[in-house]
Amino acid sequence: MIEEVNGMPYPNESYKSCMACSMKEGRLFIEDVPIDKIADAYGTPFYVYSSRAISECFNAYKEALKDIPHIISFAVKANSNLSVLSLLRRVGSGADIVSGGELFRALKAGIKPSKIVYSGVGKTASEIEYALKENILMFNVESFGELKEIARIAKEMGKVASIAMRVNPDVDPKTHPYISTGLSENKFGLSIEDAIEAYKMALSDDALKIVGISCHIGSQLTDISPFIEAFKRLFILIKRIEAIKGIRIRYIDLGGGLGVRYKDEEPPTAFEYVSKIKEALRANNSSITSAFPYTLIFEPGRSICANAGLLVTRALYVKENKGKRFLVVDAAMNDLARPSLYKAYHEIVPVAYRDSSIRYKYDIVGPICETGDFFARARLMREVHPDELLAIMSAGAYGFSMSSNYNSRPRCAEIMVNGDDFKLIRKQETYEDLIKGEFLIYD
Ligand code: LLP
Repeated sequence: MIEEVNGMPYPNESYKSCMACSMKEGRLFIEDVPIDKIADAYGTPFYVYSSRAISECFNAYKEALKDIPHIISFAVKANSNLSVLSLLRRVGSGADIVSGGELFRALKAGIKPSKIVYSGVGKTASEIEYALKENILMFNVESFGELKEIARIAKEMGKVASIAMRVNPDVDPKTHPYISTGLSENKFGLSIEDAIEAYKMALSDDALKIVGISCHIGSQLTDISPFIEAFKRLFILIKRIEAIKGIRIRYIDLGGGLGVRYKDEEPPTAFEYVSKIKEALRANNSSITSAFPYTLIFEPGRSICANAGLLVTRALYVKENKGKRFLVVDAAMNDLARPSLYKAYHEIVPVAYRDSSIRYKYDIVGPICETGDFFARARLMREVHPDELLAIMSAGAYGFSMSSNYNSRPRCAEIMVNGDDFKLIRKQETYEDLIKGEFLIYD
């Protein structure tokens, strides 16, 4: 027996988590482009982003920070498409990178090295060399070993490396354990006492220049209090460090982590978040008067692009197993891993409006040979037929950037919308792309 439920009349509000979506004359639009038009042009599945929404999200940070020196360094890991990065560069963004590959992308997109910060626990020698060669703003150092390695390489290159210690403030960000980074049990950063020790070590090394301090406690935080708690600890530490003769902190990098609405979360806006932080910083540092003595760095990722993007997929089959109704679609966990990996919730909306008050419970699944290949479980939706388009919402961050070729599935296309115009910003991979770089050593 398939459960049928009388639910809210469709369309409900579920498409509204996308900042640029609207339902017009029975069709889902992103900005002024009907989604089905893009599907006709490029096939499915595909990611589509709104340039307007991305710029708006970035500008919200910019507006909140306009009265103090700041750099907003977009976390490239959230969405590393060159067009997304260059759009952000145009509105003033820098980049927070965690690999040589991300540095390469950021530079290709024209992002200035003076706005690039390099985080991550496992920077390799060649990555450090690359970043030094390109004169990035600073390395966020996560261990004593890394500090020594950066100093060694800088010396060899006849360079001075600008560094900040990444501090692990041991605060519970109250988010999914896989994306919590600021607890002492996590692999990230240096404890407060170790950070002080590391600053002292760096001070005596000519190849290192102390320029800042950094902290990132986790992602998808919807409550502001863990941020404030962490940053209070950081600000107290800054006072201790600045008391050491010869050290001046110029950049305070507060990381990223601001959450977004996937379902019914109510995260603070970027403006509220930044205002509260400025307040806390002033309250904890009496040397801050009207002239702000630091440059604040933010590394937002998700809050810039999650709700600016969708993954669009086509229903292939509807099948029933022992009373359960499966909707098999042409996108899979290789395209969007978040539901499989974190049981993350994404709204899923049929692209065409149909007047129906009958609801069915669907497991929405992809073609990959894993039980974990699902986008939603027991999701109430109006009846969906094979060939219909569905939009998976809030997929602009950690969507394509985490996609893979698992099951030898070519990665899908990405499209950017601007008003009533849309452009391909990454074409769908071909079968040939799948074997690029492989050698056939047996004939
Ligand atoms: N800075 C650092 C040092 C980070 O590690 C991260 C994210 C960010 C900034 C950006 O955080 P955001 O503003 O996006 O929260 N794949 C997971 C998220 C992993 C986040 C890792 N670090 C997901 O899909 O939810």
